[in-house]
Amino acid sequence: MATTSPPAATTRDLLGLQGMEREHLVHLLRACRAMARVPGAHARALAGKVVANLFFEDSTRTRLSFTVAAQRLGADVVDLSGHTSSVSKGETLIDTATNIEAMGVSALVVRAKQSGAAALIADHVAIPVLNAGDGKHEHPTQGLLDVYTIAEALGRLDTWDFAGLRIAIVGDIVSSRVARSDIAALTTLGAQVVCVGAPNLAPMSLTSLAPAGQVEVARELDPLLPTLDAIIMLRIQFERSSADGHAGHSAGGAQGVLPPKAMGTNVIASVRDYRDQFALTALRAQRLRRGAIVLHPGPINRGIELDAEVADGPSSVILRQVTNGVTVRMAMLKELLSEDRRP
Ligand code: NCD
Repeated sequence: MATTSPPAATTRDLLGLQGMEREHLVHLLRACRAMARVPGAHARALAGKVVANLFFEDSTRTRLSFTVAAQRLGADVVDLSGHTSSVSKGETLIDTATNIEAMGVSALVVRAKQSGAAALIADHVAIPVLNAGDGKHEHPTQGLLDVYTIAEALGRLDTWDFAGLRIAIVGDIVSSRVARSDIAALTTLGAQVVCVGAPNLAPMSLTSLAPAGQVEVARELDPLLPTLDAIIMLRIQFERSSADGHAGHSAGGAQGVLPPKAMGTNVIASVRDYRDQFALTALRAQRLRRGAIVLHPGPINRGIELDAEVADGPSSVILRQVTNGVTVRMAMLKELLSEDRRP
């Protein structure tokens, strides 16, 4: 296996996948694969280190996944969440981060509502920062676990060459940090990405996220279905579209009524119309090519963007994404923490 070394200057933090050279990306993905082969071999890799989860925004699977990953490497984990921290008293993200760094922790895993928050914190601390999702910007470990899961299912783990693969991302792409990280990683590996949705959720400007026509925008899902190798379904992020940005509603199910703030900003006109056009229903899933796979970063709004029988069906790799998420985060923590990379 080739061992490519990325430039040292780019390896202290994991802030995003946009602009990352193919060589660096493949290096990280190979580290994930090595971790997947012998996960138990690294049980003491981070013994004596403390990883701090700084989650200024809600999360279930990402926070737990980072926690399980750090513990499997022998690290201790401390948790700080936005609701219980002094951030709610007005302390800035930077103050919070520098104080936690001063306690002697080895790395910060940061999730925040503000796009760019992880990079801002990284500018002010000397320890590695792993971006666990910053606003609408990036979610790099999700991007890595998504491409890892696709490579695993479609037999690309040796080559990391996605040329010839056509992958759709469907739904609220404009609000999605997952989509931005996915588009960066998928196109860097050579895939063709089709962003599918109405103009307010999938604007034409998405085509500028990758060179040479590698990102297309489509308004209709049905004609694409038989052409896809993978389809990534996204949740409508009602909480990012509300007028005050703090709505935090759940969508209420297929027959449910839209949250008032989401209705107020016209994210989607009605759940029923959205389902009619863009949901991966059981009927639509039958039109996917044999061997095509279905992904979703979670949390799923079952019955809105994805039918339960598809989420739990044979083409779904959604739980594989979750399993691979732990492996990817173990690999990234080990990559960033097992050597002293301070300047
Ligand atoms: C995503 C996120 O938080 O960006 N979820 C996740 O990390 N698993 C997507 C979402 O919230 O819809």
